[in-house]
Amino acid sequence: MLLDEKAVLVTGSGGGLGEGIARVCHREGATVVVADIRGNEAQRVAQSLGNRALAIECDVGHDADLDRLVAMSVGKFGRIDGLVNNAGVNFVKPFLETTSDDWDRVIRVDLRGAFFLTQKVCRQMLEQTPGGGSIVNIASVHTHAALPGSGPYDAAKWGLVGFGKSIAVELAAQDIRVNAISPGLLDTQIWQQIQAAAPDPAACSEYWKSNIPIERVIEPEEIGELAAFLLSDRSRAITGANIMADGGMTSQLISKEPYRSKPIEVN
Ligand SMILES: NC(=O)c1ccc[n+]([C@@H]2O[C@H](COP(=O)([O-])OP(=O)(O)OC[C@H]3O[C@@H](n4cnc5c(N)ncnc54)[C@H](O)[C@@H]3O)[C@@H](O)[C@H]2O)c1
Repeated sequence: MLLDEKAVLVTGSGGGLGEGIARVCHREGATVVVADIRGNEAQRVAQSLGNRALAIECDVGHDADLDRLVAMSVGKFGRIDGLVNNAGVNFVKPFLETTSDDWDRVIRVDLRGAFFLTQKVCRQMLEQTPGGGSIVNIASVHTHAALPGSGPYDAAKWGLVGFGKSIAVELAAQDIRVNAISPGLLDTQIWQQIQAAAPDPAACSEYWKSNIPIERVIEPEEIGELAAFLLSDRSRAITGANIMADGGMTSQLISKEPYRSKPIEVN
């Protein structure tokens, strides 16, 4: 299996995308730390995984929680080979109404938490034998193109990719790799919220799907498959990358035409 003998820590894995990542990593043979601010949900996921799983309640925006998270993970499994910085809060509000509190709230979880957890985990990775490891940052298609009202979120996600590249270069010779995954629209609670907020949920669902080249949203475990590959030694030549896992969303120039166009031949 891809992750035999590896210990992997996934933040925000008490639900949504993080849960999908934790499940695939566990299926691929890893021991998994399920870390989430919602301790009961982390427990639910860890219990359903069974052996080789540990639930830890933590707020990634809180430095003392990060120290405790690393210490408990190492205390239980002896080492950390992989970290997935997945915990994140979404945000949509017009730019002119965005407050400094809004900015701080998003940056604290989505960027600062990931930065300092990565620092603490990398220190552990450099101390252990054999040393080294793999970090995966969950960014977003927003690191390719934006939507209105998401300034702090986009700044955080671009920041994740940016600091990831910096660390990838700095620690490459010490066998630590850092990559980002930028998912498109996922089948998590945010997708339920988007549909519920629309005047006609069915039409909303059709609209979105018709604008994604693969014509569907992405399942959490599909991102889990990519994360497991990046955490594994099979991806040993890949570091500093930001991989779009978006069903082609960021590759099309404009929204899909509502009809199949006739071929345009060159005379
Ligand atoms: N859903 C999408 O379409 C989509 C697209 C691109 C990127 N993403 C990113 O994927 C990640 C997961 O998103 P999701 O859709 O699964 O969202 P979600 O809200 O379903 O899950 C987020 C998880 O993070 C946890 N969390 C929140 N704040 C935390 C904190 N301070 N400390 C620890 N845990 C915390 C939550 O309890 C929750 O379990 C996020 O970083 C998000 O930005 C999501």
